[in-house]
Parts: sequence; C-alpha cells; structure tokens
Amino acid sequence: MNSKTATAVAHPNIAFIKYWGNHNQELRIPSNGSISMNLGALFTRTSVTFDESLQTDQLTLQGESNTGPALQRVSGFLDIVRKTSSLDSFARVESQNNFPMGTGIASSASAFAALSLAASVAAGLDLEEKDLSRLARRGSGSACRSVPGGFVEWAKGSTDVDSYAISFASPEHWDLADCVAIVSQAHKATGSNEGHRIANTSPLQAMRIEQIPSHLKRCRDAILQRDFEVFAEITEHDCNMMHAVMMTSNPSLIYWLPPTLAIMQAVREWRKSGIPVCYTIDAGPNVHVICEAAYQENIVSLLNEIPGVERVMRSGPGGPARPI
Ligand code: PMV
Repeated sequence: MNSKTATAVAHPNIAFIKYWGNHNQELRIPSNGSISMNLGALFTRTSVTFDESLQTDQLTLQGESNTGPALQRVSGFLDIVRKTSSLDSFARVESQNNFPMGTGIASSASAFAALSLAASVAAGLDLEEKDLSRLARRGSGSACRSVPGGFVEWAKGSTDVDSYAISFASPEHWDLADCVAIVSQAHKATGSNEGHRIANTSPLQAMRIEQIPSHLKRCRDAILQRDFEVFAEITEHDCNMMHAVMMTSNPSLIYWLPPTLAIMQAVREWRKSGIPVCYTIDAGPNVHVICEAAYQENIVSLLNEIPGVERVMRSGPGGPARPI
C-alpha cells in the first residue's frame, strides 16, 4: 500500500468585525475584511491519508462515517489540494471536535483550517502560513482566520492570491474570555453559504461595507491598546450591523431567539455597572459574551441565571493551526 498521512489541530475563531457577503462566491473572496480571535480551549483534530487503494474519498466525523453533503464539501476541497500537488489518489479523512456541533461555535473554521494543514502536509506540500490561509479560505471563508494564531485580521484582497489572514497580536497579548451562552442547539435553517449569497439583497449591505475600513481600524487599535471600552462599542456595533443586513435581506434572516435579546440587554446593563463585557453573535441564536478573563466566573454565573440559557462554554485566546 502506498499512502501518505498527516494530522493537524486548529481552533475555531470568533469574529469581532464580521465577514458577511462575498465578492467572489466560488473563491470566497469576501466583500469586506474581518477581525477575530482564535478560541484556544476548543479544537478540531483532523487526520488525512491519501491512499492509492481507495476508490473514493472517505470521511469520518466524530467517529461516524459520513456520506452526505459534508463528504461532498470535503471531497471538493481535496480536489484543490490534489490539483496543487499533482496527486491523484483519494483520501481517508478523520475529524474530531472537542466541542459539540450545533452550539454556535463555527466548527467549519477549525475544520477547514485543520483539514488544509493535514491534507497539504500529507500531499507533500510545504505551504507557508499565508498560502495555508488562502487554501483554508476555499473550504470556508472564516477558516482562513483559524490558520494564524491569536488576534487575526483577514484583509479582503481582491483575488485568490491576496485574500488571506495574518496575526497582529499573539494569544498572550490580551487575556480575554469568550463565554458562549447556548440558547439553542437546533440546526440553523439558513447556513452561512446561503447567507453570504443573499447579503447584497439587503439595502443596508452597501452602507455596512462602506463603514468596514473604519471598524477594522477601531477594533485593531482597541485590541492593540487593550482598550475594552472602545473594543466593546465597535464589536457590538459591527455585530448589530451584520444582523441588520441579515434581517433586511431577501429572504429575511432572523437568527435571534427571545433569550438572545435578553442576554444582549443584560450584557449592556452589566457593562453600565462597570464590568468590561460585550456581546457578539454569529449566524445563529447563541451569544458570545466577551469579557476580560478576570471577570469570567462572574459572567458565567450571571449568564446561567438568565432563563433560556442551556449552558455556557468558555475559552481564552488560542494559537495557530499546527501539525501533530
Ligand atoms: O466562514 P463562513 O462561511 O461560515 O462565514 C462566517 C460568517 C460569520 O460567522 C457570521 C461571521 C464571521 O466573520 O465569522
């Protein structure tokens, strides 16, 4: 048997300045730049084995064999790796998350970052970080931000060559905590692929995109200066802008549930009382409550008192995708 194998680990990330909408849907060139933090306590671990004896690609997710749309997406992604490396054998992919799927943690980001690294190493490609980030972007846009470590910016670029993410501060730079309040584990009705596709149907999207360069600068500077007040103001505003676009697109997307709004309002009250805390929400109802790490015990117990909060997961900043 002639096989080539590699294993890699990558963390999911939470965006403070959100990516919503593509300039090129197929290549996942985004309409706007974004900023995120990797979540060190959570990870996806993926092994890839290219094996000449296989008749098709195979995917095992959380120990279960998958033959549906997830396999198709992985297989399409492996085609890009095969094309780049001139390899033509099929692969066995085994992937495991240490966090439950469907909890509002974007598993596609850590999944495609880990898959990019494991598949490229197994295929004999020695990619530098920016090229690995470009490759991960083809699997899921936000995955390009899970390749570098710590606090990361994805400059939108305009082609496949210049659209990738880089780290601008290490995980040790600022001890923030993401306390994720889970209010529903139901599978979301409209995934981000479809959401990106219809973003331009909202009359607010053009205005949102116009504001992004100033959001990026404000957020990047606030992180570099560890200025929580400015960070909280811009992170919540950017999240609200993305959800305003979602709500006013066609079809209209409303991801929030009643407890989502209850948490948003509580977070603002806590901040008024002097706690450095703010919220951000992805394409789902669960709320990422960001605070300085010293306040996380307090925040977790406050969140657990809000009706509708099923559980709270938490993480600090995390490092880059790495081979193991
Ligand atoms: O990478 P995708 O296609 O799953 O899109 C991610 C979209 C958001 O999570 C809503 C925002 C972001 O920047 O992560």
